[in-house]
Amino acid sequence: MLLPSLFALHEDELIEPELRITGTARSELTDDGFREFAREALEEYLPDDRRDSQQIASFLDRLQYQALDATTLEGFDDLAAKLGDISGGLSIFLSTAPFLFEPTIKGLQHSGLTGDHVRIGLEKPLGNDLASSAVINDAVASAFAEDQIFRIDHYLGKETVQNLMALRFANMMFEPLWNAGGIEHVQITVSETVGLEGRHGFYDDTGALRDMVQNHMLQLLAITAMEAPADFDATSVRDEKVKVLRSLRSVSADEMVRGQYGSGAVSGQSVESYEDDLGEASDTETFVAIKAHIDNWRWNGVPFYLRTGKRMAERRSEIVIQFKCVPHNIFGARGGKLNANRLVIRLQPEEYVRLMVMAKKPSMDRDGVTLREVPLDLSLTQAFSRARRRIAYERLLLDLIDGDPTLFVRRDEVEAQWRWIDAIRETWAEELMTPKSYGSGGWGPSAAIALTERDGVSWNE
Ligand code: BG6
Repeated sequence: MLLPSLFALHEDELIEPELRITGTARSELTDDGFREFAREALEEYLPDDRRDSQQIASFLDRLQYQALDATTLEGFDDLAAKLGDISGGLSIFLSTAPFLFEPTIKGLQHSGLTGDHVRIGLEKPLGNDLASSAVINDAVASAFAEDQIFRIDHYLGKETVQNLMALRFANMMFEPLWNAGGIEHVQITVSETVGLEGRHGFYDDTGALRDMVQNHMLQLLAITAMEAPADFDATSVRDEKVKVLRSLRSVSADEMVRGQYGSGAVSGQSVESYEDDLGEASDTETFVAIKAHIDNWRWNGVPFYLRTGKRMAERRSEIVIQFKCVPHNIFGARGGKLNANRLVIRLQPEEYVRLMVMAKKPSMDRDGVTLREVPLDLSLTQAFSRARRRIAYERLLLDLIDGDPTLFVRRDEVEAQWRWIDAIRETWAEELMTPKSYGSGGWGPSAAIALTERDGVSWNE
């Protein structure tokens, strides 16, 4: 993700020619060794239309490497020496194991790699509950002010997620209905077909709730539910998101479902169960469904059904807004049946906004009026067919380099997210809620279907 994204910024001349990129990790590599590693990675991961050997060569000239053991202070002196004069600015992108955050920050401080002209981007996992995330955030805050800290949630770098704000706040027609008066419920689905993908240690310690809900899904919920910010800037947008996150009601045990994939078939391929992938028994969930409530005026009584899982029927991220029915059906006496409007915002893999509206089927109506639901379709892929689709990290890395934190997560947001998640995990522990098995290639355990059906709601499938 990182090298292809930086390469794209280079090729499109979005970064200054003088900008240098220094890789650092434990492995002993020379500058040339790192460039070779990068070249191979680019050849493997760049899309075909990006593979320009001259551009790759000039990109590799920007790269250098310094081996670093982050647990020793001296290592950071070598890194500082390699970086040379940083008075023109330094953007650090830190992706490391949680236990290395503190020593890394100490090392950066020790070697003069902090200060007003330095920003730091933090990649997850930033802890695994409120307490451990506070330890990391405190360590980072001892060296960097909040406006120098860029916490990454790669969903915010996705064009379609940003487009959700455009849909809501650049159009007049949705907002007057976007509340408990007009909306019956909201569904947010992030389903994946992939399984464990070899991430044994990390995933089994984390699970779907912390891997996907704590960050990506809560950010989608916050953007869907927030009030209109005064401006599209870091403070206004994040102020509104955090208000939503703080208004989340704790979830009761009967409003959530944990699942773990069993064997099955995904896209025609038979696949093994989670425990077989892992090689041992496990109580980690690979699926979660939650009925969430936002306790504020706008959303009073409107459930937000969330679900995410691995090895599901298809890869799909979408937000479904189910509007209420019209107050009175004037066609009823003539047999016309009405469905309530439904807005489907598909974030991936396709990018579209689809509003289901009622229309009359053309007919002389001698046997009554037939009304049918028809889609009003906006395909963003087609409407912007010439615009290049970018990896989320391209946008986020450029914003980090340019110093724009709008699409990064502020500490108070992360803490509100963790508070809600920690309470869910406490309930799981108290109620001894273990994951229910579901067949790979389906839509999760049957309890997830029951979660909505008992409210008379069906998941959008
Ligand atoms: C990551 C999770 O944050 O997001 C992964 O750790 C998950 O488990 C991934 O597969 C999904 O991202 P995307 O962009 O493919 O929807």
